Amino acid sequence: MLLPRLKRRRWKTLILQVFATLLLLLLLTSSLRWKDRDVDDTCPVDPPNLTGPVNVNLQEAPVLADISMEHLDVVGGQWRPHNCTARHKVAILVPYRDRREHLHIFLNHIHPILKRQLLDYGVYVIEQYGDEPMFCKGLLYNVGFTEVLKNRSYDCFVFHDVDLLLEDDRNIYSCSSSPRHLSVAIDKFNYTLPYKQLFGGVTLLSASHYQTLNGYSNLYCGWGGEDDDMYLRLFHKKLKISRPDKTVARYKMMRHNQTKLNPNRFSLLKTSQDRYGHDGLTNLHLIDYQVASVHQYHLYTHIAVSVAARKVQATNGLVTNSTD
Ligand code: BGC
Ligand code: MN
Repeated sequence: MLLPRLKRRRWKTLILQVFATLLLLLLLTSSLRWKDRDVDDTCPVDPPNLTGPVNVNLQEAPVLADISMEHLDVVGGQWRPHNCTARHKVAILVPYRDRREHLHIFLNHIHPILKRQLLDYGVYVIEQYGDEPMFCKGLLYNVGFTEVLKNRSYDCFVFHDVDLLLEDDRNIYSCSSSPRHLSVAIDKFNYTLPYKQLFGGVTLLSASHYQTLNGYSNLYCGWGGEDDDMYLRLFHKKLKISRPDKTVARYKMMRHNQTKLNPNRFSLLKTSQDRYGHDGLTNLHLIDYQVASVHQYHLYTHIAVSVAARKVQATNGLVTNSTD
């Protein structure tokens, strides 16, 4: 009698043990599945909240404090999606001088779009101070790129004129495999591309492509040419430009007085191929400028750059101090 009871007990414990092991296995696999889900919370390629066409209000400049109230979750111009991990970290570089009204309209316009695009982004305004009367956009981009990377890693950079307002949020400000010209159709040019080689206005480059290209030339001050020089760099490095469809890559340009033209732009362009390697990010330390301050405002990080007056020799690109 005793023997069969003992046997039955052993059978019971065995069944219980098998059951417990199965339960444990089940729990383990389901927890692993949850873990997988946590790891793959990447934001969707097609963000669901995009509106398509965006209303562009050029009537009056908004008050900065009012814009700030609408973006309490932005710090120093930076934001990231709450519910998913953005596909890229994108820095928006905006070279700037003396256009307060445009800047406020721009900030009011760009933040909601970048949020809807579910980007992990930062807006950086690089302002030129100092004695140099001409605006040195390429130099400001190089300084901005270098300064921004000292504080945060970004894999994409958008190079953005302050006076351009995007008209369709499906034009995504996120890196693709090739350099991208985003401002394909601007109202000023009747929404057509003025020439095939244009690579100005709003462009997008990965950090590594920008480094490969040695950034912009530091020599172009005044209106025009720095973007054509960048096109030559891309051509030289055999980097193909991609463009979004002109139905979404639409922009309105805020009107302003013509900035002073760069008288050297044509002669500099003629010799630009001799300088790719040593005129750009790699020779910033030889240029007479100073980063006067870096300050986090609510809607943007401000980088103040003091540029000394300079003379650029158009024929060979040599730079001398204006007072020399
Ligand atoms: C200038 C460029 C400018 C383009 C479109 C060209 O003549 O050299 O810098 O972006 O015109 O305005
Ligand atoms: Mn302009």
